[in-house]
Amino acid sequence: MTNFKSLISGIGDLKNTKQYYDNWATDYESNLENWNYKIPLKIARILKKNVKYPPKNILDLACGTGLFGVELKKIYKNVNIFGSDISSKSIQLAKEKKIYKNLKISNFENKIIYKKKFEIISLVGAMTYCKKFDKLFSNVQFYLLNKGYFVFSHRIDLWEKQNFDIILSNLSKTFDLVYKSNPNNYLPKNKDFSNKIKVRLVLLQKR
Ligand SMILES: C[S@@+](CC[C@H](N)C(=O)[O-])C[C@H]1O[C@@H](n2cnc3c(N)ncnc32)[C@H](O)[C@@H]1O
Repeated sequence: MTNFKSLISGIGDLKNTKQYYDNWATDYESNLENWNYKIPLKIARILKKNVKYPPKNILDLACGTGLFGVELKKIYKNVNIFGSDISSKSIQLAKEKKIYKNLKISNFENKIIYKKKFEIISLVGAMTYCKKFDKLFSNVQFYLLNKGYFVFSHRIDLWEKQNFDIILSNLSKTFDLVYKSNPNNYLPKNKDFSNKIKVRLVLLQKR
């Protein structure tokens, strides 16, 4: 039985997080649908509005079972989507959707060597699990083409605790801030999150 309380309080280290999402993978999408999770759709809309050219290659970090991949394919029919996640069970389910060109089991704080660079990188619903922002952002910078975009969501409660505005302003030599949303509902029909835990959606562009 998945302990949903720890979604807010924290799951623990990488091993526990992998175990948690492996155990949850089969029910993940139906639970999220019941909780009215719309962040993948909202992030796709942000890309559609702000990205000025059709991307060829997108890297979806912490892709989970592929909910964001589904939204990406609706707006970019011919794009190649690459994905990675630490949960092998979630990756398996993402594979079954047949929308990702390539899927890898990997921690987003570790660098993967791809043959190509990406126009867009996403991290949807997973900044919560980042322990070392410098590693994540340096990897994103490495994977992106010049003028490429990094789009992500981040919980407001953690944003404030982590002084995330300062983290972003320290990145200003490498990334321009294109868009930063007001607080959005995250899991409005989950009683622990409801209107207490909200998220911000952010689009950065590599300089
Ligand atoms: C809330 S889910 C979001 C999945 C998907 N992006 C979505 O919007 O449905 C969080 C995902 O982050 C993954 N994750 C957590 N820590 C990670 C890490 N350090 N590296 C890669 N993936 C990680 C989990 O396995 C899980 O699939």
